[in-house]
Amino acid sequence: MGSNQQANTFKFPLDLGAPDGTLEGKAPPVDNGLAVPDPSRYYSAEFMAKEGKDLWPRVWLLAACSADIREAGDYTVYQHGKEEFIVVRQDDLSIKTFYNACPHRGNRICQVDRGTASSFTCPFHSWKFECDGRLKEIVDEETFNPKLIQHRPGLSEVRTDTLGGLVFINMDGKAPPLNEWMGLPEGYLEAYDMDSMNLVRHTRSEWKSNWKTGVDTFYESYHLPHIHPQTQGSIEEFSQIDLYRNGFSRMIMWFGIKSHRFEAEHERALDEGVKIFLRDAGIDPESYTGTNADTRVDIQAAKRERARTLDPLRPWDKLTDGQLSDGWITGMFPNVQMGMHAEGVFIMRFVPHETDPERFYYDNMLLYRHVDVPNYDVPTWMAMPEELDVTGATRPDIERWPVDQVPGIGPVLLQDWELVEHVQRGLKSSGFKGPLWGEQEQRIRHYQREIDRYLDGEK
Ligand code: FES
Ligand SMILES: [Fe+2]
Repeated sequence: MGSNQQANTFKFPLDLGAPDGTLEGKAPPVDNGLAVPDPSRYYSAEFMAKEGKDLWPRVWLLAACSADIREAGDYTVYQHGKEEFIVVRQDDLSIKTFYNACPHRGNRICQVDRGTASSFTCPFHSWKFECDGRLKEIVDEETFNPKLIQHRPGLSEVRTDTLGGLVFINMDGKAPPLNEWMGLPEGYLEAYDMDSMNLVRHTRSEWKSNWKTGVDTFYESYHLPHIHPQTQGSIEEFSQIDLYRNGFSRMIMWFGIKSHRFEAEHERALDEGVKIFLRDAGIDPESYTGTNADTRVDIQAAKRERARTLDPLRPWDKLTDGQLSDGWITGMFPNVQMGMHAEGVFIMRFVPHETDPERFYYDNMLLYRHVDVPNYDVPTWMAMPEELDVTGATRPDIERWPVDQVPGIGPVLLQDWELVEHVQRGLKSSGFKGPLWGEQEQRIRHYQREIDRYLDGEK
């Protein structure tokens, strides 16, 4: 079974050899220089204020997954810094977004994370608004001077667009059209058919660092052997790194194979982690006769075979063999990373705190394509709690953890959670002169450089 594909001659940077111009192909190199930025970008209130003025309003922000608001009237609330938005599916199934602030006295109209509504009523004095934002009713309208309300104050709308099953908003309304602004190659998001997946879990925990300290941590696999040693037996941390336009990027990580650091002669036995990946693909690890060099390609073949026999997995026909086994870890400027896999997409959103540059909210949204057949389930590495419904029948509530509670996000992500507050503290040391990003960390320099373009007036 399988061919001897894994090279123990891994060299960095990796080029997996897919043809140029394909989604898998290696993007041409980008020279982002060697400048060492001042670390105050990670903690100063002034830098945070600049982001609030020159970055966040001017980009497209991931506000929701369209799978979470499928029916007319479905809405979800997205909080980003001091702003809060209501994202609502309209009767014609388009999507509109409004600031979550009542035009009367500013009260938050929606005080729950999500729901379904035929109209919105502000809890303070019960003004009513249509789902399209128009004013429906002012209680005791005759007690208002008509001049004050002659503009029929409705909800304040925010520019909204969708791409590949994701909903984006642009606060200042002046960003280029979404499909021009999107730095990922054409068809990249669409290939995963996220519209046919369900949002099966959404968690939000508060972490003790700047949002960029968080992004930086997840934008490289260099730290895997050190912070997540348990992944070494089943994930290759040397990635193909692709820098795309407008601060976007990707790293392709091989899943279901031992890291190149293990020489086959040293370590012949299959790692327990790899066995899990085999089992997830429908291969019985106990009777498996392949070696560590074969697991990744055998996983691909097994998944390909499944897709041939299971109709709901037809979308896999559009994926390469690499996409069936690997994680395409995709950076969406400025604050999102998506682990893109055949079975589902693991979205991480790094949301700035309302006021504190040394806090952020870590949002995880797990999109999963449910297939109702025996022995097919959410991949084990996604760490889904047993009791959660993965069929898409239930819209999950957001599970929240305040800053001092250990979040229920699984052991690997907890290692990052523990790490970031120490990084944040060290960043502020007088002895620290700024980050020295190596080539395994080039995605960090790439998006940080793009942030500077916004803040320095180049964009
Ligand atoms: S603040 Fe909303 S009705 Fe008064
Ligand atoms: Fe990590």
